[in-house]
Amino acid sequence: MSADITEMILDDHDWFRRRFLLLAELRDDADRLDEAGKVWDELARHLEVHASAEEEHFYPSMARRADDEEASATEDAVGDHDDIRAAARKAFDQEVGSEDWWSAIDECDHANNHHMSEEESDDLAPFRRVTSLAFRQELGAKFEQFKSEHAGARGLDFSDKDPDAYVEAVTE
Ligand SMILES: [Fe+2]
Repeated sequence: MSADITEMILDDHDWFRRRFLLLAELRDDADRLDEAGKVWDELARHLEVHASAEEEHFYPSMARRADDEEASATEDAVGDHDDIRAAARKAFDQEVGSEDWWSAIDECDHANNHHMSEEESDDLAPFRRVTSLAFRQELGAKFEQFKSEHAGARGLDFSDKDPDAYVEAVTE
């Protein structure tokens, strides 16, 4: 029996928060720069896998919910995912350990925190109220499978999804 997709998303959020916290600690330690680079690389890839997995297996159902005809919460979430991606791309373009690198990571952290809290209250909570546990477990299995197929962001390119185009594609 697979886990409920909303709980799997929360577990990822918890991991993201802990990784950003570790990066904050590594920031002041020049001897651990290599470690910071690795932590960031793994974190950025996981953020991309997570966002893409949601776009594949959570937000299509979210966007088609009867109580959200315009899919505004979904549009907002995909826009947030694009902000997170933009900040990650920015960090990838900078030299590890540079001021610009750290500030791109801060930007990513900020965009991700904003998104996670909105997603938890505006998406996950309402979704749970209108769906069955069995359905959420079915999505959970697909979410997990997507994550393992794309582990380390394999086959994903950090490119923007564009909220309008996304909503149109999944609701047509
Ligand atoms: Fe998300």
